[in-house]
Amino acid sequence: MVELGSARPKIPRLSYEYFAKQVDQKTNEAVGFVPLEDVFASGRVCFSEGDVVHDVGAGPGYSTEYLQSYVPDCKKKSVIWIASEPTSSNCEQIKTRFGEENVCALNLDAIEAVKVVRYSTKIFFLNGIHMLEPAERIEFFRQSFESLGPRGQLVITSAFTSEAVDEQVQRDVLNPWMIAVFREAKSRGVDLGDLKEGLEIVKKQVWSIDRYRQEILDAGFQPDFFETLDMPCNWETYRRISHYEGWNQRTLPDLKDRQAAVINFTALKKTMRRLGKSWNDPAPRNTLVMVARKPKAA
Ligand SMILES: C[S@@+](CC[C@H](N)C(=O)[O-])C[C@H]1O[C@@H](n2cnc3c(N)ncnc32)[C@H](O)[C@@H]1O
Repeated sequence: MVELGSARPKIPRLSYEYFAKQVDQKTNEAVGFVPLEDVFASGRVCFSEGDVVHDVGAGPGYSTEYLQSYVPDCKKKSVIWIASEPTSSNCEQIKTRFGEENVCALNLDAIEAVKVVRYSTKIFFLNGIHMLEPAERIEFFRQSFESLGPRGQLVITSAFTSEAVDEQVQRDVLNPWMIAVFREAKSRGVDLGDLKEGLEIVKKQVWSIDRYRQEILDAGFQPDFFETLDMPCNWETYRRISHYEGWNQRTLPDLKDRQAAVINFTALKKTMRRLGKSWNDPAPRNTLVMVARKPKAA
């Protein structure tokens, strides 16, 4: 594992087969929370009786279900669950998945949600912090600090840090893909502007790991664990991403979802053909895993 500040992420230790086993039981979607396995295995995060757990940006509830699987049976009844999510269709899925008596589903964005839910013991925001604008991330950390009770924990994972994106993923996957997206759009008469500017915009949105640590410290937290871990994805993972509304809105904000998905997916297939890749070939993503704690006296 690589501690904060190291230049290169760790060599993959977990296999794609292991990753692929993490599928949502209802939809059969690969969800991939592999990097968090280490955090739970090390005991840095464990669920206790009386925990109030808030899963922010919970999507349709995959992350909530995954987290619940780490609660020992004997403690299950005494843990309170809140899952918040700004997309209303996802929020409805959370209600259907768990039942409103088991998980309180809130249709709110991250900042509003942590303002509403006070005295939680653990806040998770998995695979989503990069979707907030930089100023919103800072506000989210501040509000999460206020929201947590003493010694409460904030746990974040994000595949979009400048270290991760600058290195292997940027070079081998994202850059070739984005270049193909611009070409594909042009061939369909869609002007996406300047490719270089487009790539710069993506870069500006991602923070370095150091920046995350600094903002976490500035918000008053103590960082307990900060590492870049490999998420052993394959190209199939990127196929799913190419159809994902959030990704398409972010990378092609001026286009309708359907058109953006067609361009992203076609460009991905052309990139793969050019690189001689098939769906099962590895295409790793590096993920920042962060556990921060609110000090007892705060
Ligand atoms: C890649 S999904 C991850 C979902 C879930 N946490 C998981 O790991 O399966 C990112 C989620 O962040 C949510 N999101 C986007 N902007 C957000 C915001 N401002 N506040 C809270 N969630 C947001 C999206 O709606 C989406 O559900």
